Amino acid sequence: METRHFLKVEDMSRDEIVALIADARANRGERSVALHGKCLGMIFSKPSTRTRASFTAGAYQLGGDVMFVSEGEMQLGRGETVEDTARVLSSYLDGVVIRTYLQENLERFAAAASIPVINGLTDDHHPCQALADLMTISEYHDDLAGVKVVYLGDGNNVAVSLMDICAVVGAHVVICTPEELALPQWATDNAARLAAASGARVEVTTDPEAAASGADFLYTDVWFSMGQAEQPAKRARLEPYRIDEELLALTDPDCRVMHCLPAHRDEEISAEVMDGPRSIVFRQAENRLHAQKELLKRLMG
Ligand code: CP
Repeated sequence: METRHFLKVEDMSRDEIVALIADARANRGERSVALHGKCLGMIFSKPSTRTRASFTAGAYQLGGDVMFVSEGEMQLGRGETVEDTARVLSSYLDGVVIRTYLQENLERFAAAASIPVINGLTDDHHPCQALADLMTISEYHDDLAGVKVVYLGDGNNVAVSLMDICAVVGAHVVICTPEELALPQWATDNAARLAAASGARVEVTTDPEAAASGADFLYTDVWFSMGQAEQPAKRARLEPYRIDEELLALTDPDCRVMHCLPAHRDEEISAEVMDGPRSIVFRQAENRLHAQKELLKRLMG
């Protein structure tokens, strides 16, 4: 049987994503032996709270085991190739989650591996976050094809995967960033291709007020991703993109606010909104666990 990987959202079809989310909702809190006798490796070259803890807890709740190692502690850091590492680890483990910088390195690892490889975040994509995001959206809005999701702020990997998953399932997604922080052309071209197949509406804009109008969900992420230096000019440029009460007032009363976390209160999101009644960020964080357990069952079970 062919080894399946999850390196970006489109590695799963619309039907597979919708079924995974339905199962994640139905099986919330599941304890089982679906991964009994199996070991999930996790290779991280960047810090993590949610991804590391939710995969660890999820594997244990399914009766599996986990081996965590930071990339710097491996021979990868001393020049062993990605391919050699992938071949060796494939003979010990039953699946691996990788958090690294270059998507290309993740794809090289997957090409050489004979076990499922899961993207735990790269510079270009964060597909596991997108699964939890869509699961959370589905809990508040039945009709995924009728939902309007607006991402505001820095055009980054979280925005790419959110855009992709909305495009795959046929939602209306708006990516709203300053012009110089817009998503790269390859990302918007790819989302347009996915949208053409699903009937989704993908929009890119620089106007936060127009974007927020009619939104069912406003979504943001930190303005400085891991490893990025603080830049005062970038911070000033992003000020109009903060989700605060003023922006939220332009939406319908049932519009919800999402954030993949970690959050910087009063930077990309005001403390009032982050901790207010329309924030669903902690539900969204919890859903990382439920969505990823279904992913592990599908790839490793
Ligand atoms: N959202 C997210 O991926 O969180 P961590 O960086 O803590 O894993």
